[in-house]
Amino acid sequence: MQIVLFGPPGAGKGTQAKYISEEFNIPHISTGDILRENVREGTALGKKAKAYMDKGELVPDAILIDIIKDRLQKPDTKKGFLLDGFPRTLRQAEALDAILDDINKSIDVVVNVDVGDNEIIRRLSGRRTCRSCQATYHVRANPPKVPGICDQCGGELYQRADDTEAAIKHRIEVYKKQTQPLIEYYKKKGLLVDIDGEREIDEVRADIISTLKRFQ
Ligand code: AP5
Ligand code: MG
Ligand code: ZN
Repeated sequence: MQIVLFGPPGAGKGTQAKYISEEFNIPHISTGDILRENVREGTALGKKAKAYMDKGELVPDAILIDIIKDRLQKPDTKKGFLLDGFPRTLRQAEALDAILDDINKSIDVVVNVDVGDNEIIRRLSGRRTCRSCQATYHVRANPPKVPGICDQCGGELYQRADDTEAAIKHRIEVYKKQTQPLIEYYKKKGLLVDIDGEREIDEVRADIISTLKRFQ
């Protein structure tokens, strides 16, 4: 199955992606995680991307399209994949269609996780992320068993550089201007499924999994 997980910053894409990827045994491809890994490792790509990311701006399309083209050539994507955080602009969506066309694939479904602005701010300002495995927690809604330590791998939890109030507000604006229009794009193609993301993590998870089973 080829799935796009869509939604505003903080909607819970990363949280739900983990469950979807386990349930359907497909790789979770998060462009945000790939970029942050490059920043951490100090690659040329990471150096270029960091300033955009810290401010909550989108990294230029050409860079993202190259990343995805490359990633979708890896053999683990043969049985399908789950995209999280890509595409984010019309240009990226069109490029993705062309890349998939070339390898005789297409998107089966776009899951649009819907969450309002106030809840986004609440979620992102309390988020903690694992440095080692990228698992996400929330200081109140989804706390780790031991503060500061990842339940999954024992890694150190940190606060992302773009989870400051100013960057969060800017990310929401950028989402509305550049990314939200893709809802229409995928609706027109008949691929969009809306999921109410403002519920308990487990409720959202059950809804997404049962919805996706219909597309299997
Ligand atoms: P990216 O990493 O994709 O960030 P984002 O889209 O802003 O989304 P987040 O990862 O912040 O949120 P999420 O939906 O994954 O939520 P999560 O599950 O963590 O991108 C970062 C940056 O990279 C961009 O700003 C840009 O610069 C660059 N970039 C990446 N892709 C790009 C692209 N394609 N083009 C250009 N630039 C790109 O959950 C959030 C919090 O809420 C957590 O604390 C979690 O525990 C909690 N939570 C989750 N679900 C619930 C729930 N149901 N109830 C209560 N709390 C919940
Ligand atoms: Mg994420
Ligand atoms: Zn971890």
